[in-house]
Amino acid sequence: MIIAVDGPTASGKGTIARALAEHYGLPHLDTGLLYRAVGRQAFISDFDPDSPVEALCACGFHDKLLEDPELRSEETGGLASRVSIHPGVRQALFERQRAFALQDGGAVLDGRDIGTVIVPEEADAKLFVTASAAARASRRFREMQENGVDTTLEEITEQIEARDKRDQEREDSPLKPAPDAYVLDTTLMKKEEAIAAAIRAVERAL
Ligand code: C5P
Repeated sequence: MIIAVDGPTASGKGTIARALAEHYGLPHLDTGLLYRAVGRQAFISDFDPDSPVEALCACGFHDKLLEDPELRSEETGGLASRVSIHPGVRQALFERQRAFALQDGGAVLDGRDIGTVIVPEEADAKLFVTASAAARASRRFREMQENGVDTTLEEITEQIEARDKRDQEREDSPLKPAPDAYVLDTTLMKKEEAIAAAIRAVERAL
């Protein structure tokens, strides 16, 4: 069984994908981490994330980088969304994601283009998880505060809006629901409610 979970930043897609993986006993891949690793590698190597050639060079990151706590920062998220514009970078990460999805027994993947580009035909269930920009910004802000990061709600809102715009407007694999995706709006939902709704949507799709 292959489950595709797409959606914008801080929509709850990661939490939902992890919960689905646990519920169905499937391996899970957070594909955003791959783009974050490319963005982080560009930063470490002093490469220009906006240059297609330099961003592509950053795709040769070592897998150990995937464990770097810096990958989770909003700065790295911004770099990830800049390198992810380049078709060469998306191609370089394509096979790895597809192979993970098509492994024996199935998998859960979350990202921006899993249902539209990585496994458009093969996914058994596609979810597009979303929430209002205000709800996503306040969730991310709370998370940052809990982790002791010094920031403001305004700053987070601006970063989220910039990232949404870049992800939705890029030419290659823009963020948008697949025509056959179930759209799950988590704006007014608690975590448990969102997870239960996601499981119901998957059950209906099977
Ligand atoms: O999901 P996450 O916030 O970790 O993703 C970071 C960035 O990586 C996104 O803003 C997006 O630009 C890019 N990304 C992508 N395709 C994916 C996953 C992430 O373009 N499948």
